[in-house]
Amino acid sequence: MAVDVLLGLQWGDEGKGKIVDFLAPQYQIICRFQGGPNAGHTLKFGGKKHVLHTIPSGIFRPDLINVIGNGVVIDPVTLARELDAVKAAGVVIDQNLLVARKAHLILPSHRLLDQASEAHKGKSKIGSTLRGIGPTYMDKTGRNGLRVGDVSSSDFKSKYQALKEKHLGLLQIYPEQEFDLEKEEAVWMEALEQLRSLPQIDGEYYINQALAEGKKVLAEGAQGSMLDIDFGTYPFVTSSNTITAGACTGLGISPGQIGEVIGITKAYCTRVGSGPFPSELFDEDGRRLAEIGMEFGATTGRPRRCGWLDVPQLKYTIMINGVTQLVMTKIDVLDSFEQIKIADAYEIDGLKTTQLPFDLCDNEITPSWKKYSGWHESLDSVSSYEELPVLAREYIEDLEQQLGVNFSMISTGPERSKLLVR
Ligand code: GDP
Ligand code: IMO
Ligand code: MG
Repeated sequence: MAVDVLLGLQWGDEGKGKIVDFLAPQYQIICRFQGGPNAGHTLKFGGKKHVLHTIPSGIFRPDLINVIGNGVVIDPVTLARELDAVKAAGVVIDQNLLVARKAHLILPSHRLLDQASEAHKGKSKIGSTLRGIGPTYMDKTGRNGLRVGDVSSSDFKSKYQALKEKHLGLLQIYPEQEFDLEKEEAVWMEALEQLRSLPQIDGEYYINQALAEGKKVLAEGAQGSMLDIDFGTYPFVTSSNTITAGACTGLGISPGQIGEVIGITKAYCTRVGSGPFPSELFDEDGRRLAEIGMEFGATTGRPRRCGWLDVPQLKYTIMINGVTQLVMTKIDVLDSFEQIKIADAYEIDGLKTTQLPFDLCDNEITPSWKKYSGWHESLDSVSSYEELPVLAREYIEDLEQQLGVNFSMISTGPERSKLLVR
């Protein structure tokens, strides 16, 4: 059996949580392979909303195994809070949530370094979620990190102390940063006990064995491809590979084991934090997208910047991910728009192109807009693709022509049931 990968094709928050929650019953194992508590994946069912940061979005489906893979960075404090929240919602955690021993730990001092570094950057800040993601991946690639498997080793305390001392040294670069590390450390150590209570696995053996037994595995991406450390809008990116390739290194599977690649895009585009966003709107349309779409971050509550769909950007992320099927979310947000636009090309220095330049930050990009008539009716009662207004279908099908991949699902609301499967 293969591992299907589901990921965001824009700057995150495409609705990955909702789609994983819907698809989960078709799989036996759901895995997170990168990122950490910078993610906020929203699920809505039975009138209730749940937000997950580190735990895979299959956790509410009984009989499924959820794996936090080696590529993820884990903050025991956030994880403990999430565990309390899902348990309060009635989920029984018992052998259904497994943690890879090789996943790295976010220390309280990683969070402090993240905050200090961002504050120091001033106007050029990345707009990080300040969850310690960057410093933790820096320690991973710098070969200094602490991993989940280290927690049970006899010299864990001394390893922890050594890394903390290194961080305290680094924090001296930022004398303006105030902190009470002892207090945060006490909370962290207590939370570590909850992490210890979860079964630890050698994730690479576990997943490969499961595949050999014919089990179906879904890898749940976090962030979006435009935040990928290599291919995103660098340096305004996150610190992991958010693309399909990240599922191989973040789980320990070979490229040949990747099956379907399910790419998710909103019916428009959003971004939270700083950095280039060619199709961003600063007008009434942008304000309406934010208001109707309730575009506030699921992790930080920050307002999301809004714009129209960007075809060169989507073509790029479809290419680097090898997307085999598309999912469109939040089409209902466009219901009341007179006119809908997409950026179908860029104009840079007077030249038209459909390719993303090396540095989106340094280029003045003028999008060329293609316009569609809005459908002016609520999609609330639509229960099949065929029932969609003709103008909505024309919008979707024209995009398919341009992108070269078909939409297999269209999401018309946050609830689990609001999904048109083609
Ligand atoms: P993720 O990080 O990709 O899982 O996405 P987020 O949870 O951060 O943000 C997506 C937001 O859109 C959440 O508030 C979802 O409840 C909501 N959402 C998902 N699909 C739809 C949809 O089709 N229509 C509307 N209106 N909201 C949706
Ligand atoms: P999900 O999984 C949207 C953004 C931050 C910032 C940049 C770096 O919910 O789609 P970091 O905390 O990684 O140092 O932040 O990346 N960012 C996200 N934006 N959705 C996310 O996750 C994000 N995770 C990080 O806003 O611009
Ligand atoms: Mg999110």
